[in-house]
Amino acid sequence: MSGIIACYNQNLIPLDELKVSITDRAFFFGDAVYEVLRVYRGKPFLLENHHSRLSNSLRAMDINGVTDLREDIVTNIALNQVDEGMVYLQISRGEAPRNHSFHNLSLKPNILIYTKPFIEHPSATEGALGIAAITHEDLRWGRCDIKSTNLLANCLIQTYAQQRGSAEAILIRQGLVTEGTSSNIFMVKNGQVCTPPLSPNILPGTRREFVIRQFLQQGQQVFERPISKDELYTADEIFITSSIKEAVAVIKLDYQPVGNGQVSSQAKLARTLIEDAASRLSRD
Ligand SMILES: Cc1ncc(COP(=O)(O)O)c(C=O)c1O
Repeated sequence: MSGIIACYNQNLIPLDELKVSITDRAFFFGDAVYEVLRVYRGKPFLLENHHSRLSNSLRAMDINGVTDLREDIVTNIALNQVDEGMVYLQISRGEAPRNHSFHNLSLKPNILIYTKPFIEHPSATEGALGIAAITHEDLRWGRCDIKSTNLLANCLIQTYAQQRGSAEAILIRQGLVTEGTSSNIFMVKNGQVCTPPLSPNILPGTRREFVIRQFLQQGQQVFERPISKDELYTADEIFITSSIKEAVAVIKLDYQPVGNGQVSSQAKLARTLIEDAASRLSRD
């Protein structure tokens, strides 16, 4: 038993006992949006960024009538007494007999929030040692900027990578890097830090934005520009970012060392900047 108390449509229920209807469109169609936030020192990190991305996802999916959930997130963290952990939040379009087309007027979104504690720091080892990644064709749809629970291609490709000893796959669409299966990508080449520009082909990652902003504050420019697969092979450094992984160096790409094959300096800097910001959150 996890002991986690979930908030489902404003009702508090032990996560392990929570039951949802199979007529929920999330079950039939993956018709839902979600967010994953990191909790440091009992506080949600980058809450405003997650909130605005969630609003954008809801708008893009035409899921309506969802109230502001920021307070519910904070409340659920406190309720579960989580100091270090993550919040999972999901909003499905609602329940209806199975039919591809939907009629929003008769649908009420189902809202799930729960907070999970971390026993160990989830990216400490990968952060210290780096990871291997492979490249893979981006098999996803044309609206990857929406954080939808419909993640089949991401799941298949990440599993494919992990079965081959790589922690992540870097996705390539028409010869250009988009992102990882659950992360954004940065590349350093001749001292220039680069990351693919925002487009419908990538998720606007909250850590991506945070790292760009923090690097700029350090006087380090970040170029948001297309990166080709060929260029990626010549990178001096590559690193990935996400709420859970934070910032992790890619030290091997397609089984070949990246740069000198060591954890790169810019990945270390990104991690330090995140750690500093997290440590400034106050516990009260
Ligand atoms: C496909 C994809 N891209 C990027 C990210 C990184 O987003 P964030 O930094 O907001 O966690 C994620 C996070 O899960 C993701 O699934």
